[in-house]
Amino acid sequence: MRLSVIGTGYLGATHAACMASLGHEVIGVDTDAQKVTMLNSGVVPFFEPGLPEVLQEQLASGRLRFDTDFAGVADADVHFICVGTPQKPSAYGADLTQVWAATDALAAQLSRPTLVVGKSTVPVGTADAMLHRLRQNAPAGAGIDLAWNPEFLREGHAVQDTLAPDRLVVGLTRPEDEATLRRVYADLLDRDVPWLTTDLATAELVKVSANAFLATKISFINAMAEVCEATGADVVTLSTALGMDPRIGNQFLKAGLGFGGGCLPKDIRAFMARAGELGVDQALTFLREVDEINLRRRSRAVDLAREAVGGSFVDQQVAVWGAAFKPNSDDVRDSPALDVAAAIYTEGAEVTVHDPQAMGNAKKSFPHLFYASSAIEAVQGADVLLLLTEWPEYQDVDPHVAGDLMRKLQVIDARNALDPHSWRSAGFRYRGLGRPLA
Ligand code: UDX
Repeated sequence: MRLSVIGTGYLGATHAACMASLGHEVIGVDTDAQKVTMLNSGVVPFFEPGLPEVLQEQLASGRLRFDTDFAGVADADVHFICVGTPQKPSAYGADLTQVWAATDALAAQLSRPTLVVGKSTVPVGTADAMLHRLRQNAPAGAGIDLAWNPEFLREGHAVQDTLAPDRLVVGLTRPEDEATLRRVYADLLDRDVPWLTTDLATAELVKVSANAFLATKISFINAMAEVCEATGADVVTLSTALGMDPRIGNQFLKAGLGFGGGCLPKDIRAFMARAGELGVDQALTFLREVDEINLRRRSRAVDLAREAVGGSFVDQQVAVWGAAFKPNSDDVRDSPALDVAAAIYTEGAEVTVHDPQAMGNAKKSFPHLFYASSAIEAVQGADVLLLLTEWPEYQDVDPHVAGDLMRKLQVIDARNALDPHSWRSAGFRYRGLGRPLA
Protein backbone atom coordinates (compact mmCIF):
# COMPACT_ATOMS: atom_id res chain seq x y z
CA MET A 1 0.00 0.00 0.00
CA ARG A 2 1.03 3.63 -0.38
CA LEU A 3 1.11 5.40 2.99
CA SER A 4 1.92 8.89 4.15
CA VAL A 5 3.08 9.75 7.66
CA ILE A 6 2.67 13.37 8.76
CA GLY A 7 5.15 14.36 11.50
CA THR A 8 8.51 12.62 11.97
CA GLY A 9 9.27 12.80 15.70
CA TYR A 10 9.68 9.67 17.84
CA LEU A 11 6.27 8.43 16.77
CA GLY A 12 6.24 9.40 13.08
CA ALA A 13 9.85 8.53 12.16
CA THR A 14 9.45 5.11 13.79
CA HIS A 15 6.03 4.49 12.24
CA ALA A 16 7.24 5.49 8.75
CA ALA A 17 10.33 3.26 8.87
CA CYS A 18 8.43 0.31 10.39
CA MET A 19 5.55 0.55 7.88
CA ALA A 20 8.13 0.47 5.05
CA SER A 21 9.64 -2.63 6.68
CA LEU A 22 6.19 -4.28 6.38
CA GLY A 23 6.45 -3.78 2.60
CA HIS A 24 4.48 -0.54 2.17
CA GLU A 25 5.63 2.44 0.12
CA VAL A 26 5.92 5.29 2.62
CA ILE A 27 6.45 9.06 2.45
CA GLY A 28 7.13 10.88 5.72
CA VAL A 29 6.40 14.62 5.77
CA ASP A 30 7.68 17.18 8.24
CA THR A 31 7.92 20.97 8.16
CA ASP A 32 11.39 20.76 9.78
CA ALA A 33 13.78 20.71 6.78
CA GLN A 34 16.79 19.73 8.90
CA LYS A 35 15.00 16.69 10.27
CA VAL A 36 13.92 15.65 6.76
CA THR A 37 17.49 15.98 5.42
CA MET A 38 18.84 13.88 8.29
CA LEU A 39 16.22 11.15 7.87
CA ASN A 40 16.77 11.01 4.10
CA SER A 41 20.48 10.45 4.73
CA GLY A 42 19.77 7.62 7.17
CA VAL A 43 20.37 9.57 10.38
CA VAL A 44 17.77 9.41 13.18
CA PRO A 45 17.68 12.87 14.87
CA PHE A 46 17.28 11.30 18.34
CA PHE A 47 18.64 8.24 20.19
CA GLU A 48 16.44 5.22 19.62
CA PRO A 49 18.10 1.80 19.68
CA GLY A 50 17.43 -0.24 16.52
CA LEU A 51 15.75 2.56 14.56
CA PRO A 52 18.80 3.69 12.52
CA GLU A 53 19.14 0.14 11.14
CA VAL A 54 15.47 -0.06 10.07
CA LEU A 55 15.62 3.46 8.59
CA GLN A 56 18.77 2.78 6.56
CA GLU A 57 17.49 -0.60 5.33
CA GLN A 58 14.17 0.88 4.18
CA LEU A 59 15.74 3.95 2.52
CA ALA A 60 17.96 1.51 0.59
CA SER A 61 14.91 -0.56 -0.42
CA GLY A 62 13.48 2.53 -2.15
CA ARG A 63 10.16 2.19 -0.30
CA LEU A 64 10.81 5.03 2.17
CA ARG A 65 11.48 8.75 1.68
CA PHE A 66 10.94 12.00 3.56
CA ASP A 67 9.90 15.42 2.29
CA THR A 68 8.91 18.87 3.52
CA ASP A 69 6.42 19.27 0.67
CA PHE A 70 2.89 18.00 1.35
CA ALA A 71 2.28 17.61 -2.40
CA GLY A 72 4.08 14.25 -2.18
CA VAL A 73 1.28 12.70 -0.10
CA ALA A 74 -1.46 13.13 -2.70
CA ASP A 75 -1.07 9.59 -4.09
CA ALA A 76 -1.15 7.78 -0.74
CA ASP A 77 -4.04 5.42 0.12
CA VAL A 78 -3.81 6.00 3.88
CA HIS A 79 -2.44 9.04 5.76
CA PHE A 80 -1.19 8.75 9.34
CA ILE A 81 -1.19 11.87 11.55
CA CYS A 82 1.76 11.57 13.95
CA VAL A 83 2.47 15.16 15.01
CA GLY A 84 3.23 16.25 18.59
CA THR A 85 0.66 17.48 21.13
CA PRO A 86 2.75 19.24 23.80
CA GLN A 87 1.37 20.95 26.90
CA LYS A 88 0.23 24.56 26.35
CA PRO A 89 2.89 27.03 27.61
CA SER A 90 0.95 28.21 30.66
CA ALA A 91 -2.05 25.90 30.98
CA TYR A 92 -2.75 22.21 31.56
CA GLY A 93 -4.44 21.57 28.19
CA ALA A 94 -2.80 20.12 25.07
CA ASP A 95 -1.52 22.52 22.43
CA LEU A 96 -3.11 21.27 19.20
CA THR A 97 -1.39 23.77 16.87
CA GLN A 98 0.53 21.03 15.08
CA VAL A 99 -2.57 18.84 14.77
CA TRP A 100 -4.61 21.52 13.03
CA ALA A 101 -1.69 22.68 10.83
CA ALA A 102 -1.17 19.08 9.69
CA THR A 103 -4.91 18.54 9.15
CA ASP A 104 -5.22 21.65 6.97
CA ALA A 105 -2.03 21.02 4.97
CA LEU A 106 -3.14 17.42 4.36
CA ALA A 107 -6.73 18.37 3.46
CA ALA A 108 -5.46 20.59 0.65
CA GLN A 109 -3.92 17.48 -1.00
CA LEU A 110 -6.95 15.18 -0.72
CA SER A 111 -8.76 15.29 -4.04
CA ARG A 112 -9.94 11.66 -4.03
CA PRO A 113 -11.66 9.49 -1.40
CA THR A 114 -9.10 8.41 1.15
CA LEU A 115 -8.59 7.34 4.77
CA VAL A 116 -6.85 9.53 7.34
CA VAL A 117 -5.69 7.79 10.52
CA GLY A 118 -4.88 9.70 13.69
CA LYS A 119 -2.11 8.33 15.92
CA SER A 120 -1.16 11.39 18.00
CA THR A 121 -2.26 11.48 21.66
CA VAL A 122 -5.16 13.97 21.70
CA PRO A 123 -7.95 15.19 24.00
CA VAL A 124 -11.07 13.09 23.49
CA GLY A 125 -13.28 14.72 20.85
CA THR A 126 -10.38 15.89 18.67
CA ALA A 127 -10.89 13.07 16.15
CA ASP A 128 -14.50 14.05 15.55
CA ALA A 129 -13.50 17.69 15.03
CA MET A 130 -10.72 16.61 12.71
CA LEU A 131 -13.09 14.59 10.53
CA HIS A 132 -15.39 17.58 10.10
CA ARG A 133 -12.48 19.88 9.30
CA LEU A 134 -11.05 17.45 6.72
CA ARG A 135 -14.41 17.01 5.00
CA GLN A 136 -14.96 20.76 4.99
CA ASN A 137 -11.54 21.65 3.57
CA ALA A 138 -10.53 18.74 1.33
CA PRO A 139 -11.51 18.85 -2.37
CA ALA A 140 -12.82 15.26 -1.97
CA GLY A 141 -15.24 16.46 0.77
CA ALA A 142 -17.41 13.66 2.15
CA GLY A 143 -15.12 11.11 0.44
CA ILE A 144 -12.65 11.58 3.27
CA ASP A 145 -12.85 9.22 6.22
CA LEU A 146 -11.08 9.09 9.54
CA ALA A 147 -9.99 6.34 11.91
CA TRP A 148 -8.19 6.65 15.25
CA ASN A 149 -5.36 4.24 15.95
CA PRO A 150 -3.49 5.26 19.12
CA GLU A 151 0.17 4.41 19.51
CA PHE A 152 1.50 3.00 22.76
CA LEU A 153 5.20 2.94 21.96
CA ARG A 154 7.77 3.58 24.66
CA GLU A 155 10.91 5.52 23.86
CA GLY A 156 13.86 3.17 23.86
CA HIS A 157 11.62 0.31 22.63
CA ALA A 158 9.95 2.13 19.74
CA VAL A 159 10.70 -0.36 16.93
CA GLN A 160 9.74 -3.41 18.97
CA ASP A 161 6.56 -1.71 20.27
CA THR A 162 5.55 -0.75 16.69
CA LEU A 163 6.23 -4.12 15.07
CA ALA A 164 5.11 -6.30 17.98
CA PRO A 165 2.55 -4.21 19.91
CA ASP A 166 0.48 -5.60 22.81
CA ARG A 167 -2.66 -4.66 20.89
CA LEU A 168 -3.91 -2.65 17.91
CA VAL A 169 -6.81 -0.38 18.83
CA VAL A 170 -8.77 1.11 15.94
CA GLY A 171 -11.61 3.63 16.31
CA LEU A 172 -13.81 3.67 13.21
CA THR A 173 -16.59 5.76 11.73
CA ARG A 174 -17.33 3.42 8.79
CA PRO A 175 -17.02 -0.39 9.06
CA GLU A 176 -15.43 -0.50 5.55
CA ASP A 177 -12.32 1.23 6.90
CA GLU A 178 -11.51 -1.79 9.05
CA ALA A 179 -10.51 -3.78 5.96
CA THR A 180 -8.14 -1.00 4.85
CA LEU A 181 -6.41 -0.92 8.22
CA ARG A 182 -6.27 -4.70 8.40
CA ARG A 183 -4.35 -4.59 5.09
CA VAL A 184 -1.91 -2.01 6.52
CA TYR A 185 -1.21 -4.24 9.54
CA ALA A 186 -1.64 -7.62 7.80
CA ASP A 187 1.81 -8.87 8.85
CA LEU A 188 1.17 -8.05 12.51
CA LEU A 189 -2.26 -9.68 12.42
CA ASP A 190 -0.71 -12.82 10.92
CA ARG A 191 1.42 -12.91 14.06
CA ASP A 192 -1.73 -12.80 16.23
CA VAL A 193 -1.42 -9.26 17.58
CA PRO A 194 -4.79 -8.63 19.30
CA TRP A 195 -7.09 -6.35 17.26
CA LEU A 196 -9.81 -4.23 18.83
CA THR A 197 -12.25 -2.05 16.90
CA THR A 198 -14.29 0.68 18.53
CA ASP A 199 -15.59 4.22 18.00
CA LEU A 200 -13.38 7.32 17.70
CA ALA A 201 -13.90 8.60 21.27
CA THR A 202 -13.11 5.25 22.92
CA ALA A 203 -9.95 4.88 20.83
CA GLU A 204 -8.77 8.35 21.86
CA LEU A 205 -9.56 7.56 25.50
CA VAL A 206 -7.72 4.22 25.50
CA LYS A 207 -4.45 6.08 25.04
CA VAL A 208 -4.92 8.84 27.60
CA SER A 209 -6.40 6.53 30.20
CA ALA A 210 -3.54 4.02 29.73
CA ASN A 211 -1.03 6.78 30.42
CA ALA A 212 -3.09 8.05 33.37
CA PHE A 213 -3.13 4.52 34.82
CA LEU A 214 0.63 4.08 34.41
CA ALA A 215 1.30 7.47 36.02
CA THR A 216 -1.04 6.58 38.89
CA LYS A 217 0.72 3.27 39.47
CA ILE A 218 4.12 5.00 39.68
CA SER A 219 2.77 7.69 42.02
CA PHE A 220 1.08 5.04 44.16
CA ILE A 221 4.38 3.34 44.91
CA ASN A 222 6.06 6.72 45.39
CA ALA A 223 3.36 7.66 47.92
CA MET A 224 4.20 4.39 49.70
CA ALA A 225 7.85 5.51 49.62
CA GLU A 226 6.85 8.63 51.57
CA VAL A 227 5.16 6.46 54.18
CA CYS A 228 8.20 4.15 54.27
CA GLU A 229 10.45 7.16 54.91
CA ALA A 230 8.30 8.13 57.91
CA THR A 231 8.31 4.62 59.39
CA GLY A 232 11.70 3.11 58.58
CA ALA A 233 10.15 0.61 56.17
CA ASP A 234 11.72 -0.33 52.82
CA VAL A 235 9.77 0.51 49.66
CA VAL A 236 11.89 -1.78 47.47
CA THR A 237 10.86 -4.87 49.45
CA LEU A 238 7.31 -3.53 49.69
CA SER A 239 7.16 -3.14 45.90
CA THR A 240 8.56 -6.64 45.33
CA ALA A 241 5.94 -8.13 47.62
CA LEU A 242 3.08 -6.14 46.07
CA GLY A 243 4.21 -7.04 42.55
CA MET A 244 4.01 -10.76 43.31
CA ASP A 245 0.24 -10.43 43.47
CA PRO A 246 -0.73 -11.06 39.84
CA ARG A 247 -3.70 -8.70 40.26
CA ILE A 248 -1.21 -5.89 40.93
CA GLY A 249 1.81 -6.95 38.83
CA ASN A 250 5.37 -5.73 39.22
CA GLN A 251 5.62 -3.39 36.24
CA PHE A 252 5.56 0.39 36.73
CA LEU A 253 5.90 -0.21 40.43
CA LYS A 254 9.47 1.01 40.81
CA ALA A 255 9.73 3.71 43.44
CA GLY A 256 12.22 6.50 42.87
CA LEU A 257 12.36 9.91 41.30
CA GLY A 258 9.09 9.39 39.44
CA PHE A 259 7.95 9.89 35.89
CA GLY A 260 8.99 12.51 33.36
CA GLY A 261 9.39 12.68 29.61
CA GLY A 262 7.33 14.03 26.75
CA CYS A 263 4.22 11.92 27.48
CA LEU A 264 3.05 10.96 30.98
CA PRO A 265 3.29 14.41 32.67
CA LYS A 266 1.64 16.38 29.88
CA ASP A 267 -0.90 13.66 29.12
CA ILE A 268 -2.31 13.53 32.66
CA ARG A 269 -2.54 17.33 32.72
CA ALA A 270 -4.27 17.48 29.33
CA PHE A 271 -6.66 14.74 30.49
CA MET A 272 -7.60 16.79 33.59
CA ALA A 273 -8.11 19.89 31.44
CA ARG A 274 -10.34 17.98 29.01
CA ALA A 275 -12.37 16.47 31.86
CA GLY A 276 -12.97 20.02 33.10
CA GLU A 277 -14.25 21.08 29.66
CA LEU A 278 -16.56 18.08 29.62
CA GLY A 279 -17.94 18.87 33.09
CA VAL A 280 -16.50 15.72 34.68
CA ASP A 281 -13.47 17.29 36.35
CA GLN A 282 -14.25 15.49 39.62
CA ALA A 283 -13.64 12.16 37.91
CA LEU A 284 -10.00 13.07 37.44
CA THR A 285 -9.10 15.27 40.39
CA PHE A 286 -7.05 12.34 41.73
CA LEU A 287 -4.64 12.94 38.84
CA ARG A 288 -3.70 16.27 40.41
CA GLU A 289 -2.52 14.28 43.44
CA VAL A 290 -0.71 11.84 41.14
CA ASP A 291 1.13 14.82 39.60
CA GLU A 292 1.94 16.31 43.00
CA ILE A 293 3.24 13.05 44.51
CA ASN A 294 5.43 12.75 41.43
CA LEU A 295 6.87 16.27 41.77
CA ARG A 296 7.40 15.84 45.54
CA ARG A 297 9.92 13.06 44.84
CA ARG A 298 12.10 15.60 43.04
CA SER A 299 12.04 17.94 46.07
CA ARG A 300 12.77 14.99 48.35
CA ALA A 301 15.93 14.14 46.36
CA VAL A 302 17.07 17.78 46.64
CA ASP A 303 16.33 17.74 50.41
CA LEU A 304 18.33 14.54 50.96
CA ALA A 305 21.29 15.98 49.03
CA ARG A 306 21.15 19.26 50.99
CA GLU A 307 21.03 17.33 54.24
CA ALA A 308 24.01 15.22 53.11
CA VAL A 309 26.16 18.32 52.52
CA GLY A 310 25.31 19.81 55.90
CA GLY A 311 22.30 22.01 55.19
CA SER A 312 23.53 24.33 52.42
CA PHE A 313 24.76 23.78 48.86
CA VAL A 314 26.94 26.88 48.83
CA ASP A 315 30.55 25.92 47.93
CA GLN A 316 29.54 22.27 47.60
CA GLN A 317 30.42 20.05 44.63
CA VAL A 318 27.61 17.77 43.52
CA ALA A 319 27.96 14.91 41.02
CA VAL A 320 24.88 13.79 39.07
CA TRP A 321 24.59 10.53 37.16
CA GLY A 322 21.85 10.73 34.55
CA ALA A 323 20.15 13.53 32.61
CA ALA A 324 17.68 11.70 30.36
CA PHE A 325 14.13 11.22 31.71
CA LYS A 326 14.79 7.47 31.68
CA PRO A 327 17.58 5.11 30.54
CA ASN A 328 17.96 4.20 26.85
CA SER A 329 16.83 7.64 25.76
CA ASP A 330 18.44 11.01 25.02
CA ASP A 331 15.15 12.78 25.72
CA VAL A 332 15.37 15.43 28.44
CA ARG A 333 11.81 16.76 28.17
CA ASP A 334 10.49 17.20 31.72
CA SER A 335 13.44 15.14 32.96
CA PRO A 336 13.27 14.57 36.73
CA ALA A 337 17.09 14.25 36.73
CA LEU A 338 17.73 17.66 35.20
CA ASP A 339 15.03 19.25 37.30
CA VAL A 340 16.85 18.07 40.45
CA ALA A 341 20.29 19.03 39.07
CA ALA A 342 19.06 22.54 38.20
CA ALA A 343 17.40 23.03 41.61
CA ILE A 344 20.66 22.10 43.37
CA TYR A 345 22.61 24.48 41.11
CA THR A 346 20.16 27.29 41.89
CA GLU A 347 20.87 26.78 45.60
CA GLY A 348 24.57 27.47 45.03
CA ALA A 349 26.29 24.14 44.31
CA GLU A 350 28.68 23.40 41.47
CA VAL A 351 26.89 20.57 39.66
CA THR A 352 28.64 18.14 37.30
CA VAL A 353 26.39 15.89 35.22
CA HIS A 354 27.10 12.74 33.24
CA ASP A 355 24.74 10.89 30.91
CA PRO A 356 25.70 8.30 28.28
CA GLN A 357 23.39 9.77 25.60
CA ALA A 358 21.56 12.90 26.73
CA MET A 359 24.39 15.38 27.38
CA GLY A 360 23.93 17.19 24.06
CA ASN A 361 20.26 17.85 24.76
CA ALA A 362 20.93 18.59 28.43
CA LYS A 363 23.57 21.23 27.56
CA LYS A 364 21.09 23.01 25.28
CA SER A 365 18.52 23.34 28.07
CA PHE A 366 20.92 23.72 31.06
CA PRO A 367 24.15 25.30 29.77
CA HIS A 368 25.18 26.48 33.27
CA LEU A 369 25.72 22.95 34.62
CA PHE A 370 29.11 21.25 34.15
CA TYR A 371 29.25 18.10 32.03
CA ALA A 372 31.73 15.25 32.47
CA SER A 373 32.68 12.79 29.75
CA SER A 374 32.46 9.75 32.06
CA ALA A 375 30.64 8.70 35.20
CA ILE A 376 33.93 8.54 37.06
CA GLU A 377 35.07 11.98 35.86
CA ALA A 378 31.79 13.42 37.19
CA VAL A 379 32.48 12.35 40.79
CA GLN A 380 35.95 13.97 40.98
CA GLY A 381 36.06 16.11 44.14
CA ALA A 382 32.33 15.69 44.81
CA ASP A 383 30.77 16.07 48.25
CA VAL A 384 27.79 13.98 47.26
CA LEU A 385 26.81 11.82 44.28
CA LEU A 386 23.19 11.55 43.09
CA LEU A 387 22.06 8.75 40.79
CA LEU A 388 19.04 10.24 38.99
CA THR A 389 18.61 8.11 35.84
CA GLU A 390 19.29 4.38 36.18
CA TRP A 391 21.52 3.69 33.17
CA PRO A 392 22.85 0.11 33.62
CA GLU A 393 26.49 1.27 33.33
CA TYR A 394 26.22 3.12 36.66
CA GLN A 395 25.63 -0.20 38.40
CA ASP A 396 29.00 -1.37 37.08
CA VAL A 397 31.00 1.44 38.68
CA ASP A 398 33.20 0.14 41.50
CA PRO A 399 32.26 2.20 44.60
CA HIS A 400 35.88 1.99 45.81
CA VAL A 401 37.09 3.67 42.61
CA ALA A 402 34.41 6.38 42.91
CA GLY A 403 35.14 6.80 46.62
CA ASP A 404 38.87 7.38 46.01
CA LEU A 405 38.00 10.43 43.90
CA MET A 406 35.31 12.03 46.04
CA ARG A 407 35.75 14.60 48.80
CA LYS A 408 33.02 13.00 50.94
CA LEU A 409 31.64 9.47 50.57
CA GLN A 410 27.93 10.11 50.19
CA VAL A 411 25.54 8.74 47.59
CA ILE A 412 21.84 9.36 47.02
CA ASP A 413 20.33 6.65 44.87
CA ALA A 414 17.14 8.31 43.67
CA ARG A 415 16.23 5.34 41.43
CA ASN A 416 17.04 2.57 43.92
CA ALA A 417 19.32 1.09 41.28
CA LEU A 418 22.61 0.62 43.14
CA ASP A 419 23.49 -2.18 45.56
CA PRO A 420 23.36 -0.50 49.00
CA HIS A 421 25.53 -3.19 50.55
CA SER A 422 28.52 -2.72 48.22
CA TRP A 423 28.39 1.09 48.48
CA ARG A 424 28.15 0.96 52.26
CA SER A 425 31.00 -1.58 52.39
CA ALA A 426 33.12 0.88 50.41
CA GLY A 427 32.55 3.45 53.17
CA PHE A 428 29.68 5.42 51.63
CA ARG A 429 26.73 6.90 53.47
CA TYR A 430 24.04 5.48 51.14
CA ARG A 431 20.47 6.86 50.92
CA GLY A 432 17.78 5.40 48.68
CA LEU A 433 14.38 7.05 48.16
CA GLY A 434 11.84 5.30 50.40
CA ARG A 435 14.52 3.16 52.05
CA PRO A 436 15.83 3.09 55.61
CA LEU A 437 19.08 4.89 56.37
CA ALA A 438 20.97 1.67 57.14
C1 UDX B 1 5.04 6.30 27.98
C2 UDX B 1 4.12 5.07 27.90
O1 UDX B 1 4.75 3.96 28.57
C3 UDX B 1 3.86 4.71 26.43
O2 UDX B 1 2.95 3.62 26.36
C4 UDX B 1 3.28 5.93 25.74
O3 UDX B 1 3.09 5.65 24.36
C5 UDX B 1 4.18 7.13 25.91
O4 UDX B 1 4.44 7.38 27.29
P1 UDX B 1 7.66 6.74 27.71
O5 UDX B 1 7.38 8.20 27.95
O6 UDX B 1 8.60 6.35 26.61
O7 UDX B 1 6.29 5.95 27.42
O8 UDX B 1 8.29 6.20 29.08
P2 UDX B 1 7.97 5.04 30.12
O9 UDX B 1 8.85 3.88 29.86
O10 UDX B 1 6.53 4.81 30.22
O11 UDX B 1 8.48 5.76 31.46
C6 UDX B 1 7.90 6.99 31.88
C7 UDX B 1 8.56 7.52 33.11
O12 UDX B 1 8.18 6.76 34.24
C8 UDX B 1 10.08 7.53 33.11
O13 UDX B 1 10.53 8.78 33.61
C9 UDX B 1 10.46 6.39 34.04
O14 UDX B 1 11.70 6.62 34.67
C10 UDX B 1 9.31 6.43 35.04
N1 UDX B 1 9.03 5.14 35.70
C11 UDX B 1 8.64 4.06 34.99
C12 UDX B 1 9.13 5.05 37.09
O15 UDX B 1 9.49 6.02 37.78
N2 UDX B 1 8.84 3.86 37.71
C13 UDX B 1 8.45 2.77 37.01
O16 UDX B 1 8.20 1.73 37.64
C14 UDX B 1 8.34 2.87 35.61
